[in-house]
Amino acid sequence: MPVTLVLTIHPEPRSFTAAWAGASATAAEALGHRILRSDPYAEGFAPAEGPALYSDPPVPFDPLKAQETLSDATLPTDVAREVARLRQADRLIIHFPMWWFAPPAMLKGWCDRVLVHGLLHDTDNRFDRGRFRHLDVLFCVTTGGDAVESGPDGREGHWRLLLWPLAQTFRYMGARVKEPVALHGVHGYHMGPRKAALEERLAQALDAQMALLAAWDDRPDWPFHTDADFDAEGRLKAGITSFDPFIRHRE
Ligand SMILES: Cc1cc2nc3c(=O)[nH]c(=O)nc-3n(C[C@H](O)[C@H](O)[C@H](O)COP(=O)(O)O)c2cc1C
Repeated sequence: MPVTLVLTIHPEPRSFTAAWAGASATAAEALGHRILRSDPYAEGFAPAEGPALYSDPPVPFDPLKAQETLSDATLPTDVAREVARLRQADRLIIHFPMWWFAPPAMLKGWCDRVLVHGLLHDTDNRFDRGRFRHLDVLFCVTTGGDAVESGPDGREGHWRLLLWPLAQTFRYMGARVKEPVALHGVHGYHMGPRKAALEERLAQALDAQMALLAAWDDRPDWPFHTDADFDAEGRLKAGITSFDPFIRHRE
């Protein structure tokens, strides 16, 4: 039975983000998946990597070396819980709002601590040779900015481009990242008919989650260059056409 891990990044269980994550879990279960849920805010996950989280931290504190000292037996409890879930998952669906043109710090901190250097990745096991080649990842994102403001020519900056560092993080781990989903103009400031219209749109999005997950295999992958596209120094080879806005040939 395939396993879907739903990761909810929101401090409020009554938020739309949390409701949307619930809809993902319900839909994936109906599609025959075993569901794992992770809720770092509710579970007291500590997102700020640092020496206080280690019993015998290196001095001076070097986060990569500190993580290398960890084994399954010595992982901090909150990290061990997340690593166990992640290792079981075939699909990871992450629900979060956009905060300051990026995912909330909780999600960054989750990556900083859960994607343990040494145990889950190292320089021999990354990108094409990452340990999570069996994993598909989908981001379900809300923005306060509307669809125009959050679009490619919008003043908020293109929401999809802002997700590149997160997508590249999971690509580094070896996973496939699906084209993300966004709901725009999500906020609590509308009144009257506009509030009702937003509520109707959000209710439709919850209903649509089943169809979205049912069409998983048809959903395109986020395009990334392969290891073979780079030379021994890690530079995009001259003959390779760049399609990644963050990895371009120099002028
Ligand atoms: C600290 C903070 C920063 C925010 N920054 C952005 C932003 O950069 N772009 C944007 O479109 N919305 C931004 N917003 C609005 C949220 O994205 C919006 O409130 C959220 O997506 C609504 O979903 P929710 O009801 O599940 O919280 C921000 C909200 C907060 C609290």
